[in-house]
Amino acid sequence: MEESALKQAWQTVTVDLGDRSYPIYIGDDGLSDAAKLRQMLQPCIRGQQVAVMTNDTVASLYGDQLSTALQGYSVDVFVMQDGEQYKSLETYTAAMDFLMAKRHNRTTCLIALGGGVVGDLTGFVAATFQRGVDFVQIPTTLLAQVDSSVGGKTAVNHPAGKNMIGAFYQPQCVVVDSTTLQSLPAREYAAGLAEVVKYGVIADAELFAWLEDNQAALNARDAAALAHVIKRSCEIKAQVVAADERESGIRAILNFGHTFGHAIENLAGYGTWLHGEAVAVGMVMAGRFSECLQLLPQGQTERLKQLLRGLQLPVALQDGVDSSAMLQAMGMDKKAMDGKLRFIVTDGFGTARVIDDYDRQALQAVLAEFC
Ligand SMILES: NC(=O)c1ccc[n+]([C@@H]2O[C@H](COP(=O)([O-])OP(=O)(O)OC[C@H]3O[C@@H](n4cnc5c(N)ncnc54)[C@H](O)[C@@H]3O)[C@@H](O)[C@H]2O)c1
Ligand SMILES: [Zn+2]
Repeated sequence: MEESALKQAWQTVTVDLGDRSYPIYIGDDGLSDAAKLRQMLQPCIRGQQVAVMTNDTVASLYGDQLSTALQGYSVDVFVMQDGEQYKSLETYTAAMDFLMAKRHNRTTCLIALGGGVVGDLTGFVAATFQRGVDFVQIPTTLLAQVDSSVGGKTAVNHPAGKNMIGAFYQPQCVVVDSTTLQSLPAREYAAGLAEVVKYGVIADAELFAWLEDNQAALNARDAAALAHVIKRSCEIKAQVVAADERESGIRAILNFGHTFGHAIENLAGYGTWLHGEAVAVGMVMAGRFSECLQLLPQGQTERLKQLLRGLQLPVALQDGVDSSAMLQAMGMDKKAMDGKLRFIVTDGFGTARVIDDYDRQALQAVLAEFC
C-alpha cells in the first residue's frame, strides 16, 4: 500500500461565528508535509510578515518543519521559555517588544506553535497588538488540540489568579496535526484525554461508549483513534462556542468537573497536578454529586472511573486533603457567581447542565467521601 493511503484524510470542522467563522483542519503528518501545511496556512496570511510564537521545547521539535512551509514569507520566530509561569505579562511585554523591534505591521499574522500556554499567550498578543492582528493556532498538545485552541479564549496569568488578563479573540484557522502527539510526555497525553472524556459526559453518550471500547488504541496513540476523538471533541466545542461565545450560559457546561478540579489544583499548589489530572478526579466527584442529587443513575460514576483509570488518569484525591479546605478552595473559584457555587451536573452521559441551587448536604457527603 502506498504510504499516502495509510494516512488519514484531513477533515475540517467549522466554528460557526458569522463573519468570524473559521476552519479547524484535523489530520496527521501535516507539519512534515510542507506543501500541505502551506496550503492550509496561505489563506490566513494577508501580507508578507509572519511571526511564529513558540517555546524552546516545541521549537526544537517542530520549528524547522513550520519554517520550511513558510518559505518565501518574512518570518520572525519568538521563542518563550517553557512553562505555565511564563504565561505572564512579562512574556507578553517581551513578545510585544519583539514585534515592534521587527517592525511588524497590522497585516502580520501570528502563528502559535505549541500547547495551551503558547496558544493562550499568542492569542492575547494577537488580540491587542495594534488593536488586533490575525493569528493561527497550531496546537501540539492533546489538551490544546481538543480544547484550548478552539473557542477564542486568550489570556495571560496575573499573580492574583490564572487567566485574569485576557480577551475573547478568534483565530483565522486551527491546524491540528495529531502526529505531533507522538512526542508528548505520557502524563500530558493522558491529561488531554480527560477533556475528551468530558465531552462524552456532557454531550455525546456515543463518544463515551466509543472511548470505553477503544482504550487500547487511544493509549497507543493510534492515528485513526486520535482522528476520531479530536474531530468529535472539536465539533462539540465548536457547537457550544457557536451557541454561547462569551459564556453567558451554555458554554459553562464545558466546565464539568472543573469546580472540583480547580480546587484540587489550588490546594495541591499549581504544578503538582496537571490540569487534566485534576479534572479527571473532579469529574468523578461531579459524577458522584450528580448521583447524590439523584440526577444520575447509581453506578454511572463507577463507569466513568473505570474509563479514566483505563486511560491512565487518577480518580481519587491524594491523602491529607480535608473537606473544609476543599470547600474553601471551591469558594475561591472565580467561576462562583455571587458567592453561590455553581456546579455542572449530568442527568446521564451525553447531557449536562448548570445548577446553583442544590442540597448542601449532598455536597458535604461527596466531599466527605473523597477527602
Ligand atoms: N483558552 C482556552 O480555552 C483554554 C482551555 C483549557 C486550557 N487552557 C490553558 O492551556 C494551558 C495548558 O495547556 P497545555 O496542557 O497544552 O500545557 P503546555 O502548553 O504547558 O504544554 C505542556 C507541555 O508539553 C510540551 N509540549 C507541547 N507540545 C509538545 C509536543 N508535541 N511534544 C512534546 N512536548 C510538547 C510543552 O512545552 C509543555 O512542557 C493552561 O495555561 C490553561 O489555562 C486554555
Ligand atoms: Zn479543562
